[in-house]
Amino acid sequence: MNKISFKIGLLFFVAIFLLESISMFFLHDNIIHSRVHDELSALQTRGNNHREILEASFHEETIRHIAMMEARTDTQVILTTPEDGIYMSSNKVTDEMKKILKRTPKNVPHNGLILEDDWKHATYIASISPVIIDNKVKGYVYMFQNTQKIKDLISELNRHFLLAGLLSLLFMMIIIVFLTRAVTHPLIKMSDATKRISKGDFSVSLPKLGKDEMGELGESIKVLASDLEILKNERNEFLASISHELRTPLTYIKGYAEIARRGDTTAADRDNYLGIIHEEAVKLAKLVKDLFNLAKMDENSFSIEKEEVHLLPYFQGIIEKVSPALKENNMQLLLSCPSELYKELDPIRFEQVIVNLLDNARKYSEPHTKITVTVNQEDDKLHIAVRDEGKGIPEKDLARIFERFYRVDKSRTRALGGSGLGLSIVQQLVEAHGGTIEVFSNLNVGTTFKILF
Ligand SMILES: Nc1ncnc2c1ncn2[C@@H]1O[C@H](COP(=O)(O)OP(=O)(O)OP(=O)(O)O)[C@@H](O)[C@H]1O
Ligand SMILES: [Mg+2]
Repeated sequence: MNKISFKIGLLFFVAIFLLESISMFFLHDNIIHSRVHDELSALQTRGNNHREILEASFHEETIRHIAMMEARTDTQVILTTPEDGIYMSSNKVTDEMKKILKRTPKNVPHNGLILEDDWKHATYIASISPVIIDNKVKGYVYMFQNTQKIKDLISELNRHFLLAGLLSLLFMMIIIVFLTRAVTHPLIKMSDATKRISKGDFSVSLPKLGKDEMGELGESIKVLASDLEILKNERNEFLASISHELRTPLTYIKGYAEIARRGDTTAADRDNYLGIIHEEAVKLAKLVKDLFNLAKMDENSFSIEKEEVHLLPYFQGIIEKVSPALKENNMQLLLSCPSELYKELDPIRFEQVIVNLLDNARKYSEPHTKITVTVNQEDDKLHIAVRDEGKGIPEKDLARIFERFYRVDKSRTRALGGSGLGLSIVQQLVEAHGGTIEVFSNLNVGTTFKILF
């Protein structure tokens, strides 16, 4: 039995038990009340019947006849004179009866009265009916009935109630057990599933839970499990890629350092090797910096500090910085930007976006081609496009180039010093600014990256 089942079961039990007890109590009370009422009115009716006969013929003969009739039943009749003398009694008059006889009220109505109705404590219930002939009271008909009969009846009734109570309690328990199971079963399954997920078992299978909130919860758990699995796999791949990316430059550095150290290496060769070592170290430094930036973005621990930026001078400044590298390749860079455009940006971080895009445009294009940066405002939206006339990106790779470490041509881009992190940094930064980035490309025609705010 788990805690939740016990809790819900107990709650059900207490609620139903209370409800049942209250309704049983009222039913019991009502039944007893009406049974006693029936007995009392039957007794009184019987007394009234005797009285009617006596009023019709008040004779020795009739009186004896009534006494004889009554002697065979479980009721008893006593006929008294108006002054409390006893004419006749169908059975022996007990002391108890005498006490009741003394209680005769003054004006008894013609339809009679109940003299004793305390069936619980008294020995008899009793009624009185006056015999009135010619407007004069000739006597009183007293009727007595032993209360034992009613007591027996009531105790029989109590037994039935007890039995019914016990039976319904039993049924109630059975129903509660099934009901709690039905309610808690999916919850327990889900709790088990989450425990298994936290231990790394993502193959959760949950029973069909319907379309209610419970079903939604189950669905969420399944989605969570598969998301977690994807995340875990991604992380493993990511770690594998990182260690691979780090290993390559380190192997170069180690290898060239060893050769450089050898005694028979000429000074010219050594210079050459040191150059390579330096180059690899620079790559390594960039890689580590990029990784650090990405990690910070993942954690959301880096903040975008926006300020109003006048776009034309801002872009001119960036282009000036990158133009030496472009001049080396004899490439041309054109900027088209209206002079009166302003935008809330984090100037340092957004500069990295543009620099990364321009760096790609340069790396993946031939000398003597043109790169165009276009900035314009269209229906309340800011468009920034970086277009090159380079080799383009194959259709099948387009969807993946924003992934970490994804490169179209691993061997060639390695030579160009790329690790495949540039575009994922670009995408993260653009999204952190509240924008989106898209890519359009034609093989051997060129590539365009479009940023939209
Ligand atoms: N303008 C472009 N023209 C053609 N291919 C591109 C262009 N920009 C990106 N690519 C392709 O997309 C891949 C991913 O680009 P990304 O900038 O993320 O990595 P990288 O340039 O290889 O390395 P890094 O930018 O980290 O130095 C590149 O390796 C390249 O194959
Ligand atoms: Mg790049």
